[in-house]
Amino acid sequence: MKSNGKAKSPAKSARLDPTPILNQRGKLLQEYGKIVHMPIALEAKARQENVDSLNQVLADVITLRDLYKKHHWQVAGPTFYQLHLLFDKHADELTELVDSIAERVQIMGGLAIAMAADVAETTKIPRPPRGREEVPVQIDRLLEAHEIVLKEARDLVEQSDDNKDSGTNDLMASKLIPITEFQVWFVSEHVVDVPVVRAE
Ligand SMILES: [Fe+2]
Repeated sequence: MKSNGKAKSPAKSARLDPTPILNQRGKLLQEYGKIVHMPIALEAKARQENVDSLNQVLADVITLRDLYKKHHWQVAGPTFYQLHLLFDKHADELTELVDSIAERVQIMGGLAIAMAADVAETTKIPRPPRGREEVPVQIDRLLEAHEIVLKEARDLVEQSDDNKDSGTNDLMASKLIPITEFQVWFVSEHVVDVPVVRAE
């Protein structure tokens, strides 16, 4: 059988053709922002509301994760080593959360926001400069971003409680909030101005 690498309708012999089928584009299976039915005993209205809110949280947690990576790479000064490691630890923890949030969106019949350009258009976290900033500024940006995420997560705890979405409620209340509160504690202690050697 002749193959030019273009998509063609399946024929009996095509199943035996080992040539990769390239140049494939097609209609969307699902528009972003629309949900499909999922048999999880949860009303469409509740799923739509929580999918929309989860996608906002997702965009902001992806951005917070990326802010940690930026600071992991760009941190400078006497606390370089500890902050370099701490920022990366938090970025790794947030990557796991990102996956859980995105998969919760899919479980409810929604579509998770994914690509950087779409995240950038959606996030509420202010864009930092591309350049390098001092440690206290890096930390301040992280704490500001954390509080944006925590406010959204607390609102979503209430909303998901009201519309009986215990899965989303649990993800926010038992995972996202305690994990990121812990991160806030570890980061914020670095901008407490205490003597290093001699007590006042
Ligand atoms: Fe690294």
